[in-house]
Amino acid sequence: MTDRDAPLWSGRFSTPPAPEAEALGRSVAFDVRLAPQDVEVSIAHARSLEDAGLLTADEAARLEKALREVGDEIAAGTFEFQPADEDVHSAIERAVTDRLGDVGAKLHAGRSRNDLVMTDLRLWLLAAHRRIEDGLVRMLRALVEHARSHAETVMPGTTHGRLAQPVTLGHHLLAHAWALARDLDRLHGWRGRASVSPLGAGALATSTLNLDPTRTAERLGLEDRFANSIDAVGDRDVVQEFVADATICATHLSRLAADVARFSDEALGWAVLDEAYSTGSSMMPHKRNPDVAELARAKAGRVLGDLVAISTVLHGLPLGYHRDLQEDKEAAFDAADTLEVTLAALAGCVETLTFDPEAMRTATLAEGLYTTDLAEALVKQGVPFREAHRRVGELLRRLEAEGITFNALSPDDWTDLGLPDGAALLDADRAVRARATPGGPSPQSVLQQADALERLLAARG
Ligand code: ARG
Repeated sequence: MTDRDAPLWSGRFSTPPAPEAEALGRSVAFDVRLAPQDVEVSIAHARSLEDAGLLTADEAARLEKALREVGDEIAAGTFEFQPADEDVHSAIERAVTDRLGDVGAKLHAGRSRNDLVMTDLRLWLLAAHRRIEDGLVRMLRALVEHARSHAETVMPGTTHGRLAQPVTLGHHLLAHAWALARDLDRLHGWRGRASVSPLGAGALATSTLNLDPTRTAERLGLEDRFANSIDAVGDRDVVQEFVADATICATHLSRLAADVARFSDEALGWAVLDEAYSTGSSMMPHKRNPDVAELARAKAGRVLGDLVAISTVLHGLPLGYHRDLQEDKEAAFDAADTLEVTLAALAGCVETLTFDPEAMRTATLAEGLYTTDLAEALVKQGVPFREAHRRVGELLRRLEAEGITFNALSPDDWTDLGLPDGAALLDADRAVRARATPGGPSPQSVLQQADALERLLAARG
């Protein structure tokens, strides 16, 4: 074996790895995405070696330059990977050593790929988190803006997907917004736990080289250094938690997407999709399909698959680094990519959605929406709720039997019910305003909710 063909760890081996073993272990096809982070982390490490007196300033500077060149080549697609480059870390170290000889060969002192890969991955996830946060903020702004314009737009609220009580469109939209605001908050909490540098943990037990992990963490812009070196290289809860948060967020987006598809269903006609966010049919010329919403609805399953994958890898694994942990990256990348692209497309789809307040108002003419209001009007007169519910129910039974609606009731019928002014209650505007409870569907509550969400977004900066 020439040095160049051999893995970095080949010193005590006399035979090269079997090709199938090499094929199974090679991760460079996917972990090449960590190249920019690997370069930054390697530079920070080189500077720490310099601080510890293990590299001269000139050596550290040459390493930094070579690392940047290799990073640029990988980014430009001109870098030549060798068969022995097991992963991106080996490839970069090998390439730097090809360039600088002994100076390159000094780079790996006091570090292991175990602490290196986790530092790289944390930085990658933190960058992905920024983009996801931007997507979430964009989506929240779109929902809040629509909600403000439709604080007074009445529509039938549903339970079990069936007509229930009148609400405002603004209230319905902000229900989605609050869920996504919690996702923003959850991911923000994750960020604090993720912003910890494992570098200096080495393979598992730090090193004898007097490196300063706190200084390295500062160089990387991370808030803290590891507290325990075995934990730093052996756990992946930072990945699992990120993917779990992504799963919850993707689930929320899926439910929002389901509403977008439902509202824009021509049978309902409550919203119209912008052409830029709908798709035609290859066969039926009239079609305007909600593919963006449908795909956003489906992607949650894929992200959950990533969570199942990473969780299954981790469970039952004894402490310390195991090669099993290499399986964390594809799940993490896929969850982040999927969430990012879904958020962007669905945000655009929601931003450009046009609602049809008239169609929604027409749907609120369904009288069933007001039966609870009738029962509650009786309650206000001292009738026990169970009794009120029964009375309205019996009236409904009579109407159904006679094939008539509330509109056909005479003033005497209303008086018999105990509500001489009952007919006036069959009104959506009145029904939503009568629900003055904070957090309820009234126009005033919608505007208060919109203010609160905007304050929350402003506080996030
Ligand atoms: N490619 C490896 C991973 O992703 C890097 C760490 C390898 N460490 C080792 N001891 N083989 O986990």
